[in-house]
Amino acid sequence: MRWAVLVGGQGTNLKALLEAGIEVAVVVSHRAGVGALGIAADYRVPAEVLLPRQFSDRAAYGQALREILARFGVEGILLAGFLRWLDQDTVEHYRNRILNIHPSLLPAFPGLDGVGQALRWGVRWTGVTVHIVDEGQDTGPIVAQCPVPVAADDDEESLAAKIHAVEHRLYPAVVKAFDQGLIRVEGRQVRIAGPVGSLLDHWAWNPVGAGLAGAT
Ligand code: GRF
Repeated sequence: MRWAVLVGGQGTNLKALLEAGIEVAVVVSHRAGVGALGIAADYRVPAEVLLPRQFSDRAAYGQALREILARFGVEGILLAGFLRWLDQDTVEHYRNRILNIHPSLLPAFPGLDGVGQALRWGVRWTGVTVHIVDEGQDTGPIVAQCPVPVAADDDEESLAAKIHAVEHRLYPAVVKAFDQGLIRVEGRQVRIAGPVGSLLDHWAWNPVGAGLAGAT
């Protein structure tokens, strides 16, 4: 599939997707001057900046976004640090072909600062969720999750680093499964066919689980 990656931050997930060979037709950022734009340039991927303040409302922003996506023949959207809500028409147009990666085990700690929320709550485990985007905030059907343990001495920086390490493995694996047509959404249930289904089993992706001990 030809994907658009929507960004707004450092772009470490964008980099992981590109390194994994995911076909990224265009990168769109809601902020100028962010690391993700530098990564797009490094990998010679076309990039556009769409600043929300240049549009009267979310619908107008969405229309401009869809025009870019149509121009680049985009079939699906990957959110990776894009901190804006997509408008109804965009969600509808790309229904079940929009994915987001979130730094917590949803439905716990949705919205901004999933890492800080988990630390402040005092959970022993948090993690990463890849989900389908629907009209709500981080509410769509869950495709894959991976738990990450919270150590007693973790701070936001150390916990975010552990979470990022898992994100960079999980997101490309899920997108590859999509590309191979292995993922089917049935209401809130997401079915992953074939051996990839077991590959996305959370223990396979957990740095403290089998196979990835000592992973960075
Ligand atoms: C990631 O932690 C992701 O979970 C969240 O935003 C962050 C983006 O980081 N949605 P990066 O820009 O990919 O480094």
